[in-house]
Amino acid sequence: MKRIAIFASGNGSNAENIIRYFKEKESAAEVCLVVCNRKEAGVYERCQRLGVDILHVPKAEINSIEKMLPILENYSIDYIVLAGFMLMIPEFLLERFPRRIVNIHPSLLPKYGGKGMHGHHVHEAVVAAGEKESGITIHYVNEFCDEGEIIFQASVPVLKSDTPEDVENKIHDLEKKHFPRVIEEIVKTDK
Ligand code: GRF
Repeated sequence: MKRIAIFASGNGSNAENIIRYFKEKESAAEVCLVVCNRKEAGVYERCQRLGVDILHVPKAEINSIEKMLPILENYSIDYIVLAGFMLMIPEFLLERFPRRIVNIHPSLLPKYGGKGMHGHHVHEAVVAAGEKESGITIHYVNEFCDEGEIIFQASVPVLKSDTPEDVENKIHDLEKKHFPRVIEEIVKTDK
């Protein structure tokens, strides 16, 4: 059984979907811990309701090898899943978890990725550019923002009449449908 830590910074709808997915079925993995760098985030209430440990770890501690590695070792974590996590992953974690840190980005990378391209900024840019489709990208994390090896993409049409909120809702549906399932696939292929 592989042990997953989710890193989140905000609302936590993806965190909740992933936690539920692995709780509700016999699977190769379980979510043991959620790490959140922000104090006032919706993800706390979700984890409390679902009975999953959540730790508030401020940015300085996430970037501290002495603070962060013992937390993850304490929970015997095998994989880190970034779900709406707004910070860069420090090098020591990339070294300690090679090809074991996965992120989801709400666009079809390499389009609309990189610094500043997060949340509603992505969907606003997609609509402003008149794109005919958008989607999700699940990828391994490396030292460059949104540039790690792509594992999976799924797309959805963007209509002329769609607002950024409409696109966001379509993207959330894609995330819900695919992210937990793709994580399970990744974990299963790792013996
Ligand atoms: C999602 O759209 C995800 O793709 C992006 O940030 C958003 C987080 O939403 N990285 P939530 O916190 O999971 O609700």
